[in-house]
Amino acid sequence: MRSIFFKEGVLFALDSSRLPHKEVWLRLRSARQVASAIREMRIRGAPLIGVAAAYGLALDALKYRGNDANRLRDRVLKTSEYLRSVRPTGRNLSWAIDRCLKAIEKEDTVNGVKKRLLEEAEKIADEDVETNLKIANNGLEIIMDGDRILTHCNTGGLGTVEYGTALGIIRVAWEKGRKIFVIATETRPLLQGARLTAWELKKYGIPFKLICDSMAGYVMSKGMIDKVLVGADRILATGHVANKIGTLTLSILAKHYGIPFYVAAPLSTFDLTTKPEEIPIEERSQKEVTHFLGKLITVKDVEAMNPAFDITPPELVSGIITEKGIIRRPYSENIPKFYQQQF
Ligand code: MRU
Repeated sequence: MRSIFFKEGVLFALDSSRLPHKEVWLRLRSARQVASAIREMRIRGAPLIGVAAAYGLALDALKYRGNDANRLRDRVLKTSEYLRSVRPTGRNLSWAIDRCLKAIEKEDTVNGVKKRLLEEAEKIADEDVETNLKIANNGLEIIMDGDRILTHCNTGGLGTVEYGTALGIIRVAWEKGRKIFVIATETRPLLQGARLTAWELKKYGIPFKLICDSMAGYVMSKGMIDKVLVGADRILATGHVANKIGTLTLSILAKHYGIPFYVAAPLSTFDLTTKPEEIPIEERSQKEVTHFLGKLITVKDVEAMNPAFDITPPELVSGIITEKGIIRRPYSENIPKFYQQQF
């Protein structure tokens, strides 16, 4: 089942913030509504954010009632700048927006711009599903029978259009008969692991246990984990991986205990120009840390930090699984080479 689809002028998206207790479908009719859904993390996960933004641009264009294609393009450009800023760390958002803007460069009629934007959004959504299945099949190479896999955040069908990246590999491995066991981290502060990954694993019938983030060192030290498999929001040419806060800790622990640490992501997550120190790390509301399920859990007026992502250095990453194959070290040589070969 797709977590996002467009029907008769409305963008339907499964509201991640209401899961696992309620399956609520958002009905989005404007780019602003799409932007709010992304900001509030009703729509989340780097690939899904990219797809939603593409549909957001199409919705924006469809609302235009004039007959000047240049004006419409200017309007779409302005909206795209706004959408880009909503969640800055994930590369897929800008990647999808750039693709949509390029698609309408040569359109000189209002209807042409509208049609092309919707077509491009549909194409990006369809490709996301195909890409994830390819990532999943390539990932089978590293999944052994009996593997106990630790995963972080949610990288499944709820963070993509369907299947997912790291969780997509886990799902397909299970469907192909690999006897695996998953340890899912809860992923504070917003509990994507406890709420979303657990929801997906249960639905697919994959055996798993949930742990608090702080238990990762203990389970690794006890030999309970064979592999760590996570997703990514941005991967640099150097092999630096920006992903959900807590990923860096897991990679350091994995290195300490000699556990392979794999990242799964589509090529649309790669950013070959930004330097590690330039990655924009989204800082979210302090309330997400000081409150739990809407309730204050600390003393009043406490200041909190809330960086939503961290950066894992390349020396801690055993391999990066993409739709075109697995990239191995040395990344600063192999990522640009790999990328050039594909385009
Ligand atoms: O803040 P989120 O929930 O959008 O963060 C999601 C992640 O960090 C995922 O690992 C990443 O986006 C890949 S989702 C397929």
